[in-house]
Amino acid sequence: MSDYSKTRALMQRGTEFLGTDYAILCGAMSWVSERNLVSAISNAGGFGVIACGAMTPDLLDTEIAATKALTDKPFGVNLITMHPQLMELIGVCEKHGVTHVVLAGGIPPKGSVEAIKAFGAKVIVFAPTLALAKKLLRSGGDALVIEGMEAGGHIGPVSTSVLAQEFLPELAEDHLVFVAGGIGRGEAIASYLEMGAVGVQLGTRFACATESIAHPDFKKAFFRAKARDAETSVQVDPRLPVIPVRALKNKGTEEFTKKQIEVAGKLDREEVDMMEAQLQIEHYWAGALRRAVIDGDVEGGSLMAGQSVGMVKAEEPVGDIMASLMSESEAALGGR
Ligand SMILES: Cc1cc2nc3c(=O)[nH]c(=O)nc-3n(C[C@H](O)[C@H](O)[C@H](O)COP(=O)(O)O)c2cc1C
Repeated sequence: MSDYSKTRALMQRGTEFLGTDYAILCGAMSWVSERNLVSAISNAGGFGVIACGAMTPDLLDTEIAATKALTDKPFGVNLITMHPQLMELIGVCEKHGVTHVVLAGGIPPKGSVEAIKAFGAKVIVFAPTLALAKKLLRSGGDALVIEGMEAGGHIGPVSTSVLAQEFLPELAEDHLVFVAGGIGRGEAIASYLEMGAVGVQLGTRFACATESIAHPDFKKAFFRAKARDAETSVQVDPRLPVIPVRALKNKGTEEFTKKQIEVAGKLDREEVDMMEAQLQIEHYWAGALRRAVIDGDVEGGSLMAGQSVGMVKAEEPVGDIMASLMSESEAALGGR
């Protein structure tokens, strides 16, 4: 077996930061990234991340403890910045000595980065623009994930290839940058590493691994889908800005349009303010994703998936996916 020496050399800053063999993160996926998938990723040499999503502090407490029982390798916890109990969730991470906290879904609120660093954990941030990335890295972010619109789930407007060209030349020398969105094979990993990334984050490629608890029908929908089936949601009302979500098109996509009209109506009638309106939209997504991932409702639920879904053909153990990614990257670099 190859020792993947060329790929590992380019990943070295990333693996040192994560404490792993490979600088490949499995991005947090609500309902999917729980103890089983997270521990499998970390046990296979990558970096698993628990998706806290809308969990209460008690549920997160249980999930971290259960994950620790399945792996002694490093893993992270992804917290959504708009969670009303963000500081309590950080407290739960502290209690368990979590080593890496990923702050997703918006600008970290005052005090959150400081609270994480105070117990010695590393903070991983997302930033949609270069200016914000610089600001977050100046104010305590230890590493950055740039995520293009090819990704599954909530997305920004710019593609991974353009973000990589914008961010990496400016930041890669002095900062740790991981690239996410649309990565399905190792050749793409090799090219982002050569551009200066220290590692990558994938979601879609791991969502249907053998160890993933996603419902068999959710997995089947992924195996059937092509890149073009992973579409972005549309915003129906300019007064209610919603973050676009990339998912496989189904009846649930239309339901979301109806949901937006309903919430926009509540805004008009001043029954809710903008913050509450956006929370209702996010609760809708959390519920719809749960219906698809856990209950297998592939018609009415949300099948969040990135464009790399076309490269997901069958259920494979995490270890095999990891080995494919690393050998494809190594072969690409070897051929240079
Ligand atoms: C089903 C699904 C659920 C996701 N849920 C979350 C989430 O809860 N929090 C988050 O920060 N990112 C979430 N993501 C994004 C992933 O963490 C990851 O960044 C993304 O999948 C990478 O792009 P890719 O899908 O093209 O590999 C989700 C992605 C998918 C496919």
